[in-house]
Amino acid sequence: MSLQSEINRRRTFAIISHPDAGKTTLTEKLLLFGGAIHVAGAVKSNKIRKTATSDWMEIEKQRGISVATSVMGFEYDGYKINILDTPGHQDFAEDTFRTLTAVDSVIIVVDAAKGVEVQTRKLMNVCRMRNTPIMVFINKLDREGRDPFDLMDELEDELGISVRPLTWPISMGATFKGVYNFYRDNMQLYTPNKQTISQSVEVDVNSDELDKKIGKRDAARLREDMELINGVYEDFNKELYLDGLLAPIFFGSALNNFGVKELLDCFIEVAPAPRPVKAIERVVKPHEKDFTGFVFKIHANMDPNHRSSIAFVKICSGKFERNVYYKHVRHEKMMRFSSPTAFMAQKKETVDEAFAGDIVGLPDTGNFKIGDTLTNGEELHFKGLPSFSPEMFMYLENADPMKTKQLEKGINQLMDEGVAQLFINQYNNRKIIGTVGQLQFEVIQYRLLHEYNARCRWEPIFLYKACWIESDDEQELENFKERKTQYMAKDKEGRDVFLADSSYILQMAQQDFKNIRFHFTSEF
Ligand code: G4P
Repeated sequence: MSLQSEINRRRTFAIISHPDAGKTTLTEKLLLFGGAIHVAGAVKSNKIRKTATSDWMEIEKQRGISVATSVMGFEYDGYKINILDTPGHQDFAEDTFRTLTAVDSVIIVVDAAKGVEVQTRKLMNVCRMRNTPIMVFINKLDREGRDPFDLMDELEDELGISVRPLTWPISMGATFKGVYNFYRDNMQLYTPNKQTISQSVEVDVNSDELDKKIGKRDAARLREDMELINGVYEDFNKELYLDGLLAPIFFGSALNNFGVKELLDCFIEVAPAPRPVKAIERVVKPHEKDFTGFVFKIHANMDPNHRSSIAFVKICSGKFERNVYYKHVRHEKMMRFSSPTAFMAQKKETVDEAFAGDIVGLPDTGNFKIGDTLTNGEELHFKGLPSFSPEMFMYLENADPMKTKQLEKGINQLMDEGVAQLFINQYNNRKIIGTVGQLQFEVIQYRLLHEYNARCRWEPIFLYKACWIESDDEQELENFKERKTQYMAKDKEGRDVFLADSSYILQMAQQDFKNIRFHFTSEF
């Protein structure tokens, strides 16, 4: 197959949701359709979130599993599908944000009874920042949920983009009958059964047959709904979807295998093949002959005897080959990889080649950090792996002065992996660790001890936000830094960061220093 067609048949995406909306169940059903797994219950990676926050040992166990399920590839109908898993636990949100930089589109799962929830909203914002094409699967129609029109309105408001239903539910809960498929102009009738695939029925909506199949009342309601939908919503426009301006909506029940195949069949047809990726120097197109890629995730091996990890590389262009020398741009050195892995369903296997859109795992012993670029030799830096302003902060204290070196090394490597962010307070030179969740502090402490033999202690510090600052007015920037000297820090790259201890202080600073820009992500 030509390079062109290999790339065109790839669909790389993530499924995202608020915990419990049904992401794991949907992922599993997609794998079942792809023949990648044969029994339900095989995908448990994101069950992490269900364990108590302090149950770190459990999480460690889970992490072992999630290496295999971080990327799930399978073949379906001539397409190569790569699903990137995102951690369910909200304390790992930063990991999720980064994974979203490596996908070409997303499917958002929403619980029909709950609508848009906190975590959904945050993830949607990230998608919007990047104009990522979005499809929405409204799940759990087998239970009583909210009115579908209300859900549409809410999604439109919250997503900030237009929506267009491509399937539409016929009743719900105990009387759920099925969905009408606008995309194919047919109807799927529902049989509550977790293992069988739904039946599709060709039916003319204006015929008596519809009344016979779903009853007079529901038939009348469906005709009314359809009239309203076709009146209110524009026809589905693929271009708008690809530009991230329109989200097609599907209804179903992942648990009952219902509406999932309709979603998948439409997805492979309309979802984007690998898209161009911006580097600082230029835009890289997937079909370019030369290989380029970037590291978006590093997965540490939790076995203390093997301090190796896997760097996950998203291939942005061309073809990656085993044992060929590529340039590690930050280190300015050529490297080759003898055992790159690809991820097929639950298995990891060594591959000889992979194409733009694919993810390869490179065994690593500390050469990589998040955001690193690999190329055929070109000096190129991919951007788009922002750090977000952390929400929790602690001073890092060395609890074993004999192990200072180990602590330094451990902290540096963990930060390269993107576990948390390190800031150095410029006033007292103390190290501050910022995270998005409490869990990270436990993770760091545990891993420092078990992987680096170093001990740390946390000391509380009350901060509201850390924001990156910059200005064209150097004098004002200097004045600001002088005035706020106790609250100034540097991030790992040496950029200026202002540590605001309350929202009021931040507001005042923004008011008083109009020529300074305060950023809440590291990419500006
Ligand atoms: P998540 O990954 O988004 O967090 O959600 P997950 O798939 O784990 O689903 C959360 C719960 O919702 C699970 O129940 C799952 O069985 C249920 N669920 C998923 N899809 C549907 C659906 O279409 N209809 C109904 N009624 N329930 C659904 P659980 O009891 O928490 O877990 P489990 O013991 O079943 O694994």
